[in-house]
Amino acid sequence: MGSRIWVCSLVISIQVLIIASQTNNQDYVALQSLQDIWQNTPPNWVGPDPCGAGWDGIRCNNSRVTSITLASLNLTGQLSGDIQELAELQILDLSYNKGLTGSLPPSIGNLKKLARLILVGCGFSGLIPDTIGSLQQLISLSLNSNNFIGGIPPSIGSLINLYWLDIADNKLSGTIPVSDGNKPGLDMLGHTKHFHFGQNRLSGEIPPRLFNSNMTLIHVLFESNNLIGNIPSTIGLVQTLEVLRLDRNALSGTVPQNLNSNSLLKELYLSNNKLTGALPNLTGLNSLNYMDLSNNSFTASAVPSWVLTLQSLTTLVMERVQLEGQVPVGLFSLPLLQTVILKNNQLNSTLDIGPSYSNKLQLVDLQSNYITDYARRVGYNKELILVGNPICQETGQSQTENYCVIPLQSNYSSYSTPLNNCLPTTCGSNQLSSSNCKCAYPYTGTLTFRAPSFFDLRNLSIYTSLQSSMMGFFQSHQLPVDSVSLSNPTKNSDDYVILDVEIFPSGLNRFNRGGISGVGFVLSSQTFKPPSVFGPFVFHGDGYGNFAGTHKSTSTGVIIGAAVGGSVLVILVLLAGVYAFRQKRRAERADKQNNPFASWNPDKSSGGVPQLKGARFFSFEELKRCTNNFSETNDLGSGGYGKVYRGTLPSGQLVAIKRAQHGSMQGGLEFKTEIELLSRVHHKNVVSLVGFCFEQDEQMLVYEYIPNGTLKESLSGKSGIRLDWMRRLRITLGAARGIQYLHDHANPPIIHRDIKTNNILLDERLTAKVADFGLSKPMDDSEKGHVTTQVKGTMGYMDPEYYMTQQLTEKSDVYSFGVVMLEMITARSPIEKGKYIVREVKQAMDRTKELYNLHGILDPAIGLNSTAPKCLEKYVDLALRCLEETGFLRPAMSEVVKEIENIMELAGLNPNAESASTSASYDEGGKGFDHPYSNESLFDYSGIYPPSKLEPK
Ligand SMILES: *[C@@H]1O[C@H](CO)[C@@H](O)[C@H](O)[C@H]1NC(C)=O
Ligand SMILES: *[C@@H]1O[C@H](CO)[C@@H](O)[C@H](O)[C@H]1NC(C)=O
Ligand SMILES: *[C@@H]1O[C@H](CO)[C@@H](O)[C@H](O)[C@H]1NC(C)=O
Ligand SMILES: *[C@@H]1O[C@H](CO)[C@@H](O)[C@H](O)[C@H]1NC(C)=O
Ligand SMILES: *[C@@H]1O[C@H](CO)[C@@H](O)[C@H](O)[C@H]1NC(C)=O
Repeated sequence: MGSRIWVCSLVISIQVLIIASQTNNQDYVALQSLQDIWQNTPPNWVGPDPCGAGWDGIRCNNSRVTSITLASLNLTGQLSGDIQELAELQILDLSYNKGLTGSLPPSIGNLKKLARLILVGCGFSGLIPDTIGSLQQLISLSLNSNNFIGGIPPSIGSLINLYWLDIADNKLSGTIPVSDGNKPGLDMLGHTKHFHFGQNRLSGEIPPRLFNSNMTLIHVLFESNNLIGNIPSTIGLVQTLEVLRLDRNALSGTVPQNLNSNSLLKELYLSNNKLTGALPNLTGLNSLNYMDLSNNSFTASAVPSWVLTLQSLTTLVMERVQLEGQVPVGLFSLPLLQTVILKNNQLNSTLDIGPSYSNKLQLVDLQSNYITDYARRVGYNKELILVGNPICQETGQSQTENYCVIPLQSNYSSYSTPLNNCLPTTCGSNQLSSSNCKCAYPYTGTLTFRAPSFFDLRNLSIYTSLQSSMMGFFQSHQLPVDSVSLSNPTKNSDDYVILDVEIFPSGLNRFNRGGISGVGFVLSSQTFKPPSVFGPFVFHGDGYGNFAGTHKSTSTGVIIGAAVGGSVLVILVLLAGVYAFRQKRRAERADKQNNPFASWNPDKSSGGVPQLKGARFFSFEELKRCTNNFSETNDLGSGGYGKVYRGTLPSGQLVAIKRAQHGSMQGGLEFKTEIELLSRVHHKNVVSLVGFCFEQDEQMLVYEYIPNGTLKESLSGKSGIRLDWMRRLRITLGAARGIQYLHDHANPPIIHRDIKTNNILLDERLTAKVADFGLSKPMDDSEKGHVTTQVKGTMGYMDPEYYMTQQLTEKSDVYSFGVVMLEMITARSPIEKGKYIVREVKQAMDRTKELYNLHGILDPAIGLNSTAPKCLEKYVDLALRCLEETGFLRPAMSEVVKEIENIMELAGLNPNAESASTSASYDEGGKGFDHPYSNESLFDYSGIYPPSKLEPK
């Protein structure tokens, strides 16, 4: 009954559609001929009206086809010469269809309106037709990663509007064409910003004529070709240049001094050539971030003094270039310096990184030189490699030094985007789990960065910033993306940084074709721009096969076919398809509800599955693997409950794993209560729980790893971090806020019971994090006020009132915090040589004198010599109020926080500012980190994909 009505209304709508057919007939015929020779065209390419019926990947203006975007649809076949009939075509993007092969038809030159020809990562071969020079409207030409052979057509030089020229990663040969009389050449491309020619077989000299002062190039990438001869000095005329890669060729002669005029240059790669003569004087390159001059035949010289003037330098690589003499101390104080690689030279005498080395420094590799001594600098704890130097060859103590051992292969390459506070799911049938723990078929591919401004891949913040910039872009362009996962960063032999990418669909568990080609297009066309430190990039999408919408029962095209054929049978088949699809969805939904706590041991007493917020379950095997079988080298310390190990999760995240020893295990119920409690605690100043393990007679808690260790270590001077008065104030405030959170905002409220400097950790920004809830006590409403318990805690910090009455209140933590405050200014343990710090301070104190007469007892590292620590008196007053004998007289933590904020303001500090970073961070761009594509606005995305077209149906 219902289906009969449906058929009737179909017949009516067909008539309406036929009357309203919109597409220009010539365009329809051209598309049909493409469809005839291509396989895997979208299933809704049916009927005579591509524009009116909204064929996937086709956009029209009035009746004419203006854009074809079909990235990653697994199209196979050739590009037919009939394409020339699409006279109004402006955009042709067929990227990432490896099955598109054969040569480009010369008739492509007839597409007079074509502005973007984007064929990245297809299988095209043969010559690039000379007719390409007739595409006078062309703005971007991306033919990279195909199999093109032959020379670069000189006619490309006549494309006066060309902005983007990428022909990298082909098999192109011959010389780079320049104009000559009437013959055009690439030197005429005054509007082009990008010459991406790397990874070809280009030969001959780089013609001096190629560069002139009318050019606006920002990226010149000629790496990995067979270019010979001198670097033309005309390169200095291109004042806009930001990235220059001439590495991995056979260039010879001296480096032209004119390079010095490219004052905007950020990345300079001249490595692996046959350059000779003296190193050039590059004093003028004020913006240079990354310089690699390795493996050339320069005359022997000392590390040139001009290197020490490059204030923006992050990375210096000069391997095997005959450097001699001592490494200048001043090099290491360049403010943004991260990486120094001077392997295989003749550097000698003592290595000294100086007292004021860059706080961003991550790696100094001086393997195979003649260094005989190392002037150790307190606090430098980043990587230093001196293997193959005399200092490591002498017998004796030095051989056991870290710097005499090649460090273990860093595990950054196992990085993957961590889960977004959710429980991991097991996905069936080739689906993958997104970082939001949803199972789906992601669109996968790789991102290749051809000249990043950083060297070290271990800093996880580079991936986080890339991931969030991609996500932000997809969202703001209303693309149907749920999340993006990045993984497996590597550097290849061309010094490209490569990352695997998984892009997950929102809504359904798979993209529709519009969604895939939309995402593919913004990446192939460079509409998406990564953060500036990544430099020029290329995306390679995989062919995608798992489309949503293949069963579109409402697809106009299919309905036309069905009804015109008059076959009810087709409709029945369709209905069956819809039914099967629904069943499948139902099955998938059931799959999702899979119990992630299958291994939770529900012995009667431990009740149901724990209710966790943000923490996940780990198997014993997983934790065993990530601690290298609980090896001693990962042992961070121990306590009454057992040991703490450092571990690295497969995502690259470092964690601290607290493993209960057998005697101190809790019952299932207690353990469950504890993890439920801990998983609810989320505050910047409290160490958070990542997960737990509860199986095979094991109980483990997995916490985030806090790199700078305990406050106690820092106060003792062991960790090499200098805690001046300002830093101490910030740390005190952070710790107080953490405790206040536990008291006032955790639900139920938590009394820590063991506040001490050993339980306050410092992260890489010296943010205080309160740790170790081993003794914590949640308070139920019934016991609001106090809890009677067996007394636990640490001698020296313990509240005397609690000790005597066994009545635990929040004020017990306040007392312990008062002790911590005194430890902060004296750096003495609470009980040292039989003396109790609280008594010592009270005895020495004289409120009428400067600094309350405490000079003798204060920690000199506070900075007593320069200026007196501001407001120290007020700080001591507050500490002593916390240390009142009677809990009733002590301030609440909220009051303590307010008072410390007051003190900081009086001392001229902003209590809400972040403390300074102690390690490199890619978020804070120094000067010279402007966007490499700055002011590029030609890639206007709007109008190409109206959002409605992208929603999975
Ligand atoms: C569509 O074409 C007309 C001329 O035929 C032009 O004026 C208009 O700007 C075009 N619209 C778009 C969105 O390109
Ligand atoms: C630069 O452009 C100007 C004006 O278009 C032209 O006269 C001059 O010859 C050009 N210079 C070079 C080196 O091409
Ligand atoms: C390098 O050039 C700058 C300015 O051009 C000059 O001041 C400096 O002395 C030169 N340095 C060397 C080592 O030649
Ligand atoms: C270091 O090398 C330089 C240049 O080769 C040489 O002049 C100097 O004597 C060497 N110094 C030492 C301590 O060997
Ligand atoms: C791509 O198409 C070919 C045949 O045209 C097919 O064999 C292959 O399975 C398809 N790949 C995907 C991922 O769908």
